[in-house]
Amino acid sequence: MKIAMIGTGYVGLVSGVCFSDFGHNVVCVDKDQRKIDMLERGEVPIYEPGLDTLMAKNVEAGRLAFTRDLAAAVDGAEAVFIAVGTPTRRGDGHADLTYVMAAAEEIAKAAKDYVVIVTKSTVPVGTNRKVREVVAAANPDLDFDVASNPEFLREGAAIDDFMKPDRVVVGVETDRAAQVMSDIYRPLYLRDFPIVTTDLESAEMIKYAANAFLATKITFINEIAALCEKVGADVKQVSKGMGMDNRIGNKFLHAGPGYGGSCFPKDTKALARIGQEHASPMYITEAVITVNDSIKRRMIDKLQDLCDGSFNGKTIAVLGVTFKPNTDDMRDAPSLTIVPALVGGGAKVRVCDPQGQHEGEALLPGVDWVDDPYAAVQGADLLVLLTEWNEFRALDLPQIAGSMSRAAMADLRNIYNAEVAKDAGFLAYVSIGRKGFA
Ligand SMILES: NC(=O)c1ccc[n+]([C@@H]2O[C@H](COP(=O)([O-])OP(=O)(O)OC[C@H]3O[C@@H](n4cnc5c(N)ncnc54)[C@H](O)[C@@H]3O)[C@@H](O)[C@H]2O)c1
Repeated sequence: MKIAMIGTGYVGLVSGVCFSDFGHNVVCVDKDQRKIDMLERGEVPIYEPGLDTLMAKNVEAGRLAFTRDLAAAVDGAEAVFIAVGTPTRRGDGHADLTYVMAAAEEIAKAAKDYVVIVTKSTVPVGTNRKVREVVAAANPDLDFDVASNPEFLREGAAIDDFMKPDRVVVGVETDRAAQVMSDIYRPLYLRDFPIVTTDLESAEMIKYAANAFLATKITFINEIAALCEKVGADVKQVSKGMGMDNRIGNKFLHAGPGYGGSCFPKDTKALARIGQEHASPMYITEAVITVNDSIKRRMIDKLQDLCDGSFNGKTIAVLGVTFKPNTDDMRDAPSLTIVPALVGGGAKVRVCDPQGQHEGEALLPGVDWVDDPYAAVQGADLLVLLTEWNEFRALDLPQIAGSMSRAAMADLRNIYNAEVAKDAGFLAYVSIGRKGFA
């Protein structure tokens, strides 16, 4: 099949590469010349494990190409996927659909024969119908269908998630569109990965409901963690005991510094907004947003306590600033709330992240970037573990404690524990929802 993928970001690029690996002919389009230049040189603009090799393999096989020329990519394509960004609109929390609608209009003007226009971007309920109106208005003679195909991949494990999904959700209105979508996903269907076919609205809603639910689960355990600290319980044990209940499950029960990233913050805000617009308030989601903000602020209080009430004049080493490991994505990362509070409070901040510097430099002004965690902690008053990269999971803690000016650690991902920290020579250790010492 011939497929055009509009938008070559985290979702578009991974989807385009994986579809080409299924055997389809894929042209990935982006309006960002820098990205297209990099891709044409065989370079991957984002950090996603395994993507470079898979991309090279399919370019080599002649199934995958990159262009800025949307019209050329759309011409003759049986399906055109929209995978552009839907960031939070300034002021009201709504998903900004400007890029989606602009792409839809461009596709309409370029398409000549029957085509399925598939929205992969996360979009509010009703958007696919609006896409259909935009396309019909821009090209009244075009024979086309719209389809909703929300994406559930996780950055850092995106290829595996795409190739071995828990399910693929497809919202369609016609049998013809359903057939095209089933042909595209046939390789997964043949390997027994479930395809859930729904109407357009349900597919759109599934994506928001799933993300809001996961954000709720994380926020729930984060709130429980705060209570654990007060009552002397250990949130790791609590999570384990809860997660063994099959009705609950053990995923998304790791307490931390609050959720961030490119999806949960904006999707929870958008769902709350959709609820308001339809006079059907999303009270739980609204509470999750508020609690998550308070959790990030709670982290700052924790760090301040470890610095005797003031960051002023302290040297603080921050390990990890991306919103999670194995990505370079900094969008809405907890570090963007926490690090500026340290810098603003007068601390000298050294940051070490295996992939974060490229994106992070502009977002975290006033910090020093250091390649090596051991160099970052040299002479520091506080070590903050903020993202659980593998590189930070087996640090030589005695060496670190010995090289710090004051051996204090805030382990905001619960990688280590109080006993290990004490044995290593730390004078203070705090984590999330567990006993520490100071
Ligand atoms: N990042 C994730 O983990 C993830 C997971 C599931 C769903 N989603 C959803 O997928 C969508 C895309 O997310 P992302 O993280 O890949 O975004 P992104 O910002 O990384 O990429 C979007 C790309 O689209 C390009 N673009 C915008 N308008 C265009 C146009 N008219 N023509 C060509 N290119 C255009 C931009 O230049 C950019 O490269 C969002 O709706 C997001 O919510 C993201």
